Amino acid sequence: MQRLMSGMRPTGALHLGNWAGALANWVTLQRSFACYFMVADWHALTTGYEDTSGLEESTAEMVMDWLSLGLDPEAAVIFRQSMVKAHAELYLLFAMVTPLGWLERVPTYKEQLRELAEREVATYGFLGYPVLQAADILAYRAEVVPVGQDQSSHVELTREIARRFNHVFGTALPEPEARLTPSPVLLGTDGRKMSKSYGNTITFRDSAQEVTAKVRGMVTDPARVRRTDPGTPEVCPVFALHRIYNPEGAEEIARGCRTAALGCVACKAMLAERLNAALEPVRERRFALTARPGLVEEVLAAGSARAAAEAEVTLGALRAAVGVR
Ligand code: TRP
Ligand code: SF4
Repeated sequence: MQRLMSGMRPTGALHLGNWAGALANWVTLQRSFACYFMVADWHALTTGYEDTSGLEESTAEMVMDWLSLGLDPEAAVIFRQSMVKAHAELYLLFAMVTPLGWLERVPTYKEQLRELAEREVATYGFLGYPVLQAADILAYRAEVVPVGQDQSSHVELTREIARRFNHVFGTALPEPEARLTPSPVLLGTDGRKMSKSYGNTITFRDSAQEVTAKVRGMVTDPARVRRTDPGTPEVCPVFALHRIYNPEGAEEIARGCRTAALGCVACKAMLAERLNAALEPVRERRFALTARPGLVEEVLAAGSARAAAEAEVTLGALRAAVGVR
């Protein structure tokens, strides 16, 4: 089996956008590859080092959501970055061969520097973010890395680091390939990209009532002012969710919207019903899993031990090639 690695920063409870943007893909791939799925808690430090009080809880919440959504710790290795110290050692070795210019050119670096100007991110650790990511991937000699488009430059840099390291030390690290998430960006309740930082998410922990209320409050086609105005479903975030969660009904809804036969209130009620039907089994699974105290800790301990053993194989070869212990 080919080896596959991916990670997520611990953002806490997952939302529909996380599912569409990553996890659905992971769940599909978990039985076709030897998979390593990681909570990137060290990566979370690169921009959030001032307040780390929530790390433990958001890690546990996220892993619980992974499990409720169908990631299987028997099939995939599920672990936490900071529990596998080899990542730090590999990061150090890679740092030696990575030219500064490569890192300064990474688009996410330039962007974030601008966006997070008010927070202090002009740090060494932040610049080194993709080197750490290269260590995550190459510790498992992964060939496939399922990620969103925003991460493709990091995978590209990982290939360059692998190539350079192999060239300098005569090692045989594979050059991994990004496997881009098939689904497009999911829109949130306000019509912007669904994101925790925008506060526009629908999460897998929302109760049926909460989901219904959030959907009721969603923005629609702004040009559709009166009930009798025809709408344009293509610009409506409610319709975008119908497409995903109500694929068979979407065409009829589009027609009803365009002809003003269907009102937004009824359209939203239908969406809420479909969403709740999709979320209910996830809620039930989480409820069943919460009855097993210590589950997340157990999964992470077992997964991290498996990951550490595999990373040690890589590190053993690299240390020898470099000539260090
Ligand atoms: N940087 C990734 C993100 O922000 C998370 C991540 C860390 C990752 N290490 C990784 C993804 C290794 C893929 C492979 O989404
Ligand atoms: Fe959006 Fe539905 Fe209203 Fe059309 S009817 S604008 S798709 S909410």
